[in-house]
Amino acid sequence: MKLIEVKDYQEMSQVAADYLLSKVKESDKLTLGLATGGTPQGLYEALINDHNKNRTSYQHVSSFNLDEYIGLSGKHPNSYYHYMNDHLFKHIDIDSENTHIPSGKAVDLEKECEAYDEKIRLHGGIDLQILGIGSNGHIGFNEPGTPFESNTHIVELAESTREANARYFDSIDEVPAQAITMGISSIMKSKEILLLVSGEAKQVAMKKLVEGEISENFPASILNRHEHVTVIADQEALAMVKGLELLNR
Ligand code: PGA
Repeated sequence: MKLIEVKDYQEMSQVAADYLLSKVKESDKLTLGLATGGTPQGLYEALINDHNKNRTSYQHVSSFNLDEYIGLSGKHPNSYYHYMNDHLFKHIDIDSENTHIPSGKAVDLEKECEAYDEKIRLHGGIDLQILGIGSNGHIGFNEPGTPFESNTHIVELAESTREANARYFDSIDEVPAQAITMGISSIMKSKEILLLVSGEAKQVAMKKLVEGEISENFPASILNRHEHVTVIADQEALAMVKGLELLNR
């Protein structure tokens, strides 16, 4: 893993945007893996600012999102379908036909999971995957204990995840109990991964990622086995990490 150490959330977002934009500009065809949550919001804002200013085009870009809540339709304000339209897609010129998010309302959810991995495969795999990390080490909605070889699948959300996401809902009771998530194996097949980590709430996760062992109890630890991961982390997130040099190995 390579580390880019930045001052704060704003710098993390801008550095991530510059990195992603360089890929968008240098490729004829690009498949992105996208994430939701608080972490990538600043990245998406920076992409929108760039699009407004420089008209960078996304006509040749496809995207696959990591996950979606089960039971929420795309119209629900807390669905990730809604989030992506609101925070990115409607502000840039990406073709909506080329954006993919698992459906949390599919009649046959198992089939939806299989079809999602197949669609990624048919696109030639993900070129650049954007990831955040949960305080419990989850990536996508792959909670602790998820087998490393998992493909896209249905998950029961951990209580800590529902609590962390309750801030977007009126109450924790409204946070869905299940989600569809790209599996750990699906994520690890990405050619390149950009992991964004910001803030005090991620200090312990960041320390475990760098200094802990590789274990299914801490899903993000598998990233240590991927050949092309860049971590962009801010000073607060890195505050508990002792051996920073461990990251640039
Ligand atoms: P956050 O979530 O960006 O809202 O902190 C990250 C995650 O759960 O992967």
